[in-house]
Amino acid sequence: MSTYRTHLLLCGGTACHATGSQAVKEALLKEIAKQGLEKEVRVIETGCNGFCAQGPVMVVQPEGIFYQKLTPKDIPYLVEEHFLKGRPVERLFYVEPASSETIPGMNEIPFFSRQVLRVLRNKGAIDPEKIDEYIARDGYLGTAKALLEMTPDEIIAELEKSGLRGRGGAGFPTYLKWKFAKASPGEVKYMLCNADEGDPGAFMDRSVLEADPHAVLEGMIIGAKTIGAHYGYIYCRAEYPLALRRLDIAISQAREYGLLGKDILGSGFDFDLEVYQGAGAFVCGEETALMHSIEGKRGMPRPRPPFPAQQGLWKRPSVLNNVETLANVPQIILKGGDWYASVGTEGSKGTKVFALSGDVINIGLVEVPMGITLRDIIFEIGGGIPDGKKFKAVQLGGPSGGCVPEHLLDTPTDYEAISKVGAIMGSGGMIVMDEETCMVDMARFFIDFCKEESCGKCTPCREGTKRMLEILERITEGKGEIEDIERLEELSRFVKDSALCGLGQTAPNPVLSTIRYFREEYEAHILEGRCPALVCQALITYSIDTEACKSCGLCKKNCPAEAITGSKKPPEPFVIHEEKCIHCGVCFSGCPFDAIKKSSGSKVARAA
Ligand SMILES: Cc1cc2nc3c(=O)[nH]c(=O)nc-3n(C[C@H](O)[C@H](O)[C@H](O)COP(=O)(O)O)c2cc1C
Ligand code: SF4
Ligand code: SF4
Ligand code: FES
Repeated sequence: MSTYRTHLLLCGGTACHATGSQAVKEALLKEIAKQGLEKEVRVIETGCNGFCAQGPVMVVQPEGIFYQKLTPKDIPYLVEEHFLKGRPVERLFYVEPASSETIPGMNEIPFFSRQVLRVLRNKGAIDPEKIDEYIARDGYLGTAKALLEMTPDEIIAELEKSGLRGRGGAGFPTYLKWKFAKASPGEVKYMLCNADEGDPGAFMDRSVLEADPHAVLEGMIIGAKTIGAHYGYIYCRAEYPLALRRLDIAISQAREYGLLGKDILGSGFDFDLEVYQGAGAFVCGEETALMHSIEGKRGMPRPRPPFPAQQGLWKRPSVLNNVETLANVPQIILKGGDWYASVGTEGSKGTKVFALSGDVINIGLVEVPMGITLRDIIFEIGGGIPDGKKFKAVQLGGPSGGCVPEHLLDTPTDYEAISKVGAIMGSGGMIVMDEETCMVDMARFFIDFCKEESCGKCTPCREGTKRMLEILERITEGKGEIEDIERLEELSRFVKDSALCGLGQTAPNPVLSTIRYFREEYEAHILEGRCPALVCQALITYSIDTEACKSCGLCKKNCPAEAITGSKKPPEPFVIHEEKCIHCGVCFSGCPFDAIKKSSGSKVARAA
């Protein structure tokens, strides 16, 4: 076996694929061969490194140097300078936006330094397509311990000690779910993994599957042994091709190594599984809909009870766990429940992975100890808001969640503390919004999403989300009435209380939390015909500042509605004609001299 002096851990996650990591990989291999370094420098394609906004990214080991935004053009110089002559290339290092400091080492970059990696411990560190690399980092030791040394009750006790709660959104204690399914009578039981991940902006589960698929397989094997299941399914959306490919590879390698199939590790325990591809419907993430979908039926929820632990897939006792929940299990078994519970808060133990996105400098995947405040995640790890803009709110938990305003930024990431302020921990989607976000429009976006994704089985959700969307649309168009706020609150209560499944029961959350914290924005739209964030198209007026205008003519040329007149020769001022303007904003974003102004005035003044 060759020993390499340098390992190049090039990110092969979905985001880095999209920004060209494959071309960078080809350039690296070519240049390494050209320089005769094939026996000394090895390229390893890893799963998502987490710092997706800087992609394609690469970590050089053993030094731990972090290169970002690589292009194939950078490679010949990089290989010659760093890997041949030993001089790292500074211009490809990360530059901290706040201080403009150049930081070579990955662990010194603030985005990484506050993270505690448990679920993501192998991200960017191993080739996820090679089981040996996983095994070399204690892979399958948890499985071996659970299968060869522990009884199901001991596994349940360890999970109880750990305090692990389901990471799919509801935060239900994992040990209890397993205990109920174990206690359910039946020869045939199923162990299931939920990799549907339908929340807009969420990519935690996809990244775990891409970076460390064996950790999830281990969680499923241990769960199966605990409840007495011999077959399982991973329900993963078809839009995740890389995760699906890596899962397929991981499953066949695990079978080859005797870690799936008959008599695993000589324990006498049999378990195998398959991947079921979902078509990407949000409602199919709901547990009973997911099970219907695997059964080949339309993905629609059913009332509970009976709960899946008694009657799940094909009416057999079943456990469904989220990807991140399962990826935590092997480490808990190996290191113990007390180790796991050593970080976190009283009611929320361990770490949580968040997908940080929106108006934040460092977009990416972060794993932090539970209890860390939202402020720490957004401002210390996330680097704050770009372009010197002000923070407005953070949306947690996607369409089922709520938004948290600035004065509550010191709320800890704890299931109970977050629901107290009207949001939910959810599966870990964290969308940061700056001062240019309209909160009414944001509520409209999420209700529109839920209306589209409602399966239509029950009337409150099917009709209630439609009616709520109609009201929100008329408010964003400046046609609302003050009673609409109360109507929204009333409808929200009705839909929450009477919808059949979690989709409908939580769909009103974004509306309720924006009314709770940003009522004045609703009132400005309704009473003054004004969108304070200058987002709602119908309430915006564009005008040209004649002093700043250089008469270049670009806006007139680009306007699709021919709403702009003016000329340089003979000199005639450029003017936007409101009656023709369709408020598309093309002139505003295209003016090279920032001479076009956006404003949102009073309804009365415009009507006159
Ligand atoms: C509309 C809807 C969508 C859901 N989508 C997901 C999902 O994509 N992934 C997930 O793990 N859980 C999702 N859930 C939660 C699951 O129903 C279930 O609670 C979870 O998979 C259980 O795993 P856990 O106990 O490990 O969290 C969704 C729930 C609802 C109501
Ligand atoms: S609440 Fe909505 S998604 Fe759930 S069953 Fe009813 S109609 Fe379908
Ligand atoms: S693009 Fe700007 S500078 Fe050019 S004519 Fe229009 S407003 Fe004036
Ligand atoms: S995909 Fe490369 S850092 Fe996330």
